[in-house]
Amino acid sequence: MDKLAVYPGSFDPITNGHLDLMQRALKIFDRVIIAVASNPAKEHLFTLEERVRMIRESLTEHPLCERVTVETFDGLLVNYVEKKGAKAIIRGLRAVSDFEYEFQMALMNRKLCNDIETLYLMTGMRWIYISSRIIKEVVVAGGGVKGLVPDVVERMLNERLAARKATGVC
Ligand code: PNS
Repeated sequence: MDKLAVYPGSFDPITNGHLDLMQRALKIFDRVIIAVASNPAKEHLFTLEERVRMIRESLTEHPLCERVTVETFDGLLVNYVEKKGAKAIIRGLRAVSDFEYEFQMALMNRKLCNDIETLYLMTGMRWIYISSRIIKEVVVAGGGVKGLVPDVVERMLNERLAARKATGVC
């Protein structure tokens, strides 16, 4: 039987750090589902459909893409993971600052479903300082993020920013 893990997140947008983590997870698991959270209560730069499309496009030429699927979920993560028949949730840990939030989330998920384990992987050193939030901040302030995100993401970020500037919403 395939060993399957779910890698959940907002992915607003996906970064090279996320892709690095996915690749590391595929050393342990046969298949990974990248599960994009719908979470309508949270404000996103990109719609759910855009986030999924960017991830799929980022993966088209990836050597491991056949072992990865991209899906969306809403409601409780553990319910989605159970429905998929997976036993593990993958999350990334960068610095100590990530720890508190991740610790709380992992223990809450364990309380909700004791059969599912959360596994934390460290991203490669070259991606340790990137997050979706800081990528957006840099682009909004006029900086370049080439090489830190997939090309499609860089393009969509610049398009979204240009559209916002044109409409005066920035
Ligand atoms: O990339 P993010 O925003 O840190 O991802 C957070 C995410 C989507 C994994 C988390 O908010 C989540 O699992 N949301 C689904 C709702 C849920 O299950 N909440 C209980 C666990 S805290």
